[in-house]
Amino acid sequence: MFTLAHLSDTHLGGLRMPRLDALLSKRFLGFLSWHLRRKAIHEGPVLPALVADLRDTRPDHTVVTGDLVNISLPGEFARAAAWLRNLGAPRDVSVIPGNHDAYVAVAWAESLALWADYMAGDGADGFEHPAVGPESFPFLRHRGPLALIGVSTAAPMPPHSSGGRISQEQLGRLATLLACTGQQGLCRVVLIHHPPLPGRRTTHKELIDGLAFRNVIAAEGAELILHGHTHLSGLARLSTPKGSVPVVGVPSASARPSKEKDHARYHLYHFARDGKDWQIGVDVRGVDQSLSNFRLESRFDLRVPA
Ligand SMILES: [Fe+2]
Repeated sequence: MFTLAHLSDTHLGGLRMPRLDALLSKRFLGFLSWHLRRKAIHEGPVLPALVADLRDTRPDHTVVTGDLVNISLPGEFARAAAWLRNLGAPRDVSVIPGNHDAYVAVAWAESLALWADYMAGDGADGFEHPAVGPESFPFLRHRGPLALIGVSTAAPMPPHSSGGRISQEQLGRLATLLACTGQQGLCRVVLIHHPPLPGRRTTHKELIDGLAFRNVIAAEGAELILHGHTHLSGLARLSTPKGSVPVVGVPSASARPSKEKDHARYHLYHFARDGKDWQIGVDVRGVDQSLSNFRLESRFDLRVPA
């Protein structure tokens, strides 16, 4: 049995006063929001407790679906790189970026390049290649029976927008990867920061290219889609001609309990082949009232046609 941990939206703290010229942008609003509201939710003992719990549950692989940082300062990317190295080796951890990881336009070398080993994709030569730019998405990593396919929806947006975009080129590569790995009989797990299903109303927080993404999934199929962004637990289904694809979201990995959003959780998936189907058991582990321990909150099963 192969186990996969899914966590998201770490929103790592330690945000100090940057040089003033670094704040002359959308970052100014994000910096205020961090210090007035978000810091009290995300900074503290919760995320270290989650990492400690992962050391006990020992998944075979861990995925982090974006929003590691807050306002995309180069220093934040460096701190997040150090946090990732503490979490695990690049071979054991996969990362995709979220909207906060592209809060404003930042040079690749000062931003996502620092996590490139965690976004490395399998090359045709049999080796993994670190991400080198937007053209490296989606990446594909074979792990056990899984094909992990990491999509990037991270693109700088105007102030007050936390939406996401996927380029046409990326959607084309996604279709090809899904078709190839589907023919190989792998369990295709698509990682995407923004939830790909539309909300009740279109908002400034949504995936702008959601319909195009859903069309690719409908045409090529997938076994599971994992997302973050909402800071809420979520389970939905994406209908396709070949059946429905589970779409599962996790809350922020660092969140204390609050009125609006769910407290910190992560999901532990157990994959097993059962005849013609994939049997996927999901353990929901959440922070307890002490804020320094995670415990099993609930379990549910997903059954997906192979
Ligand atoms: Fe987000």
